[in-house]
Amino acid sequence: MTITESERDALYKTIFSRRDVRGEFLNKPVPEDILKRILKAAHHAPSVGFMQPWDFIVVQCPSTKQAIKEGFQKAHAESAEMFDSERKQQYSALKLEGILEAPLGICVTCDRSRNGPVVLGRTIKPEMDLYSSVCAIQNLWLAARAENLGVGWVSIIHDHVLRTALNIPDSIDIIAYLCVGYVSQFHEKPELEKRGWLSRRSLEAAIHYESWPED
Ligand SMILES: Cc1cc2nc3c(=O)[nH]c(=O)nc-3n(C[C@H](O)[C@H](O)[C@H](O)COP(=O)(O)O)c2cc1C
Repeated sequence: MTITESERDALYKTIFSRRDVRGEFLNKPVPEDILKRILKAAHHAPSVGFMQPWDFIVVQCPSTKQAIKEGFQKAHAESAEMFDSERKQQYSALKLEGILEAPLGICVTCDRSRNGPVVLGRTIKPEMDLYSSVCAIQNLWLAARAENLGVGWVSIIHDHVLRTALNIPDSIDIIAYLCVGYVSQFHEKPELEKRGWLSRRSLEAAIHYESWPED
């Protein structure tokens, strides 16, 4: 199957216009068939040894979201203390989640024991299963953008909060809590760039030929 030029362009448009969304979620339900489409895209991600170690917990219950939000608030305050005074102020002013506003939360996990202790491709670098779950998240993120749905990744939260709120056993790794929903707008640039936190590194600085650069 050959990808046409316009299909290729649509993919790049999706990639470059994908954003992490925090403050723009609308109170508008996500139809079940669209949710299923983005989860199907996630489920078709590559995985080491075809292990498919992920699961997706869809969260809609307001009291569950509230418990997760409280966990975020504690972790956010704790995190602020790790920055020096100037950065701390800037950090504290950033909105870094949309847990209550987003109609859906999706917790993505990794079952590191799925398909037994020896998995093709994971024999030398066991962390490949975690990376596989991250591939699923990226598929979901891009599929959501193609559906005009925003996604925000919330990582400022202790695992025990999500374990308790979502009844996740200790044997399962927590990879992400995602906020998902329709949005008022997608920012043109990453918000952290817009707000002067960091800027995009040049592509040239990231590409090296033949070996790691000398300096
Ligand atoms: C692994 C991972 C964890 C992240 N955790 C958070 C988070 O806790 N809160 C937040 O606001 N953004 C989080 N982000 C989003 C990044 O800040 C964002 O991707 C980056 O600033 C670039 O912006 P863009 O996604 O809009 O292009 C996370 C992204 C990744 C990949």
